[in-house]
Parts: sequence; C-alpha cells; structure tokens
Amino acid sequence: MIGALGAVAVWLTPSWFPVAAATQADRQDTLYFVMMVIASFIMAIVVTFLVYSMWKFRRPDDDFSDGPPIHGHTALEIFWTAVPTFIVLGLAVYGAVVLYKNEEVSSNRLVVDVTGRQFAWSFHYPKQQIDSGVLMLPVGRETEFRIHGVEGDVIHSFYVPQFRVKQDAVPGITTRTYATPTRIGTYSLICTELCGIGHSQMRAVVQVVSAVDFEKWISQQREAASAAGQNPGEAVFNAQGCGGCHTFQPAGASGKVGPDLDQLTAAAKKYGGGETAAQYVHDSIVDPSKVVVSGYPDIMPKDFGQKLSDQQLTALVNYLLKGASQ
Ligand code: CUA
Repeated sequence: MIGALGAVAVWLTPSWFPVAAATQADRQDTLYFVMMVIASFIMAIVVTFLVYSMWKFRRPDDDFSDGPPIHGHTALEIFWTAVPTFIVLGLAVYGAVVLYKNEEVSSNRLVVDVTGRQFAWSFHYPKQQIDSGVLMLPVGRETEFRIHGVEGDVIHSFYVPQFRVKQDAVPGITTRTYATPTRIGTYSLICTELCGIGHSQMRAVVQVVSAVDFEKWISQQREAASAAGQNPGEAVFNAQGCGGCHTFQPAGASGKVGPDLDQLTAAAKKYGGGETAAQYVHDSIVDPSKVVVSGYPDIMPKDFGQKLSDQQLTALVNYLLKGASQ
C-alpha cells in the first residue's frame, strides 16, 4: 500500500521537464515516467521495511552481544531475484522499442547536416542546397540530423532538450539522430559534451515553423545566396551563423557572446596595430586568437580561413566594414 502511495506521489508531481516539442520527446517522457513510477513504488516499499526494522529490531541499550546468525530463506531469495529480473528485462524491452520507434525513418524525411566545432554549430540542407546558422525546421516533418565533427577538433554533442534527443558529433564519422517536431516555437540546440572554454556558449537557435513558413524561408535563403544584386557578404554572414554570437545591426543580429561588429573601424584603430581596417577584420576572421578583445572569451572557431573562399572572405569583410559606422 505504501508502495502504491509512493507511486501516486510521483504521478501527482508537476512536470519538471522542458516542454515536449517532438514525438520522440513524448515517447521518452512516457518511458521515463513509467520507470519513475516503478522505481518509486519499490523505493517506498524498501524505505518502509527499513524504517520499520530500525524501530522494531533496534538494540536495547544494555545489549552488547552479537546478533543471532540467520541462514537465508531460499524461497524468498528466488522471489527477490526473479521479480527484479523481470522488471529490468521488461524495461529493457520497452526502452529498445522506444529507441527503435524514435529512429524509424520514412523516405519523405528532411535531412539536415549538422556540424559542431569549437565553438559553434552550423547547418547544411543538402537537398535544398542551403547553409544556415539557424536550425530551421518545419513542424510535423520527420527530420534526420546527420551530425559531423571537424578534423582535429574535439567531440561535441547535439542536444535539443525539447526534443529529448542527443547525439555526439565525432570528428571523422557521421552520427545520426532523428526528431519530428510537434510544436511551433523557438528552442535552443546546446552542446552537451564538455569541449573547452566556449562549451557553455556553444548554442544555436532552433526554430520550428509551419511547413509554409519553412518553404518561404528556403526560398528566401536561396535568393539571398544566389541573387546577383544581393550582398554576397551578407549571405556569408547569415550562412555561417555569425549573428549567433555577434551584434551587427545591418544584419539584424544581436548576439552577445562576441564583440559588437557595428564599430569595427574604431576597433581596428584601437587593436589593429597600424593595420588597415580591412586587414584587421580579415585577420580577426581567419585568426580569431590574434586579437582577443578584453572581456570576451577566445572561443571563435579558428577554421573560417579554410572554410571560406577568398572571394567569400573579401565579401564578408566588405559587408562588415560597409555596415560599420565609420
Ligand atoms: Cu561543444 Cu561543448
């Protein structure tokens, strides 16, 4: 009876999880809930017997003799071995079923390549041919995340708490995880593997939107990336997710992790050591550790020099300087 009361107490506890925003999250939560109810049931029984025995069999103050030697009880031992075995096997099967269902994929799925590196996430939509610094997802669509690391980098881990799925980003191999978002909203992708000084800042915005808004976003991104009249530097800025960490008004970016990019000309005078503003900005992108503005951690990814072509770098530098107040 006390076991049942303990289980009911868990039943009545308000949810302590973040909102569930994917079908995977609902399955995980149900699994977790079932485990908690079983565990609290057993815990309540164990604690009850423990407290009762402490009270009932306590040693009288004047008794210094050894306790009586008691031999085990075979039937009882079979019972308490068999019951937990069945419970654990049952939970193992249930857990395997949930994992299997969570990773079931249909051919209609959306595929997103996710790359984690010190200390940023970037996203590539292979079918749509789009790069993004924001993880944009259509609601109700099964999504496969192909997770990559970068050669020579450490291990990171992809985790969206509201989806309840987690997978390591390991240099040299492609790992996978799946989610079908069920709620429109803005969430955070967080790195959940201690990966260095910028670990706690290694986040990206996850935006779940309607299917129509997703298509709109796709075409906007395409236009921004391809239209000749558009600013190619702005396209690089958006695709590389610079706005996740930096404030830059012309791009509508308001990140606070790294220095404000609206005052780059002044910054170049102050920190550039005689370099031209263009040189200073270029160097700061390809070698972010060369000058670290005080008050900010040295956590900007060091591989933009390899990732971006010379044209892309020049376009980005021009974009940053043209937007900057002179
Ligand atoms: Cu990347 Cu922690």
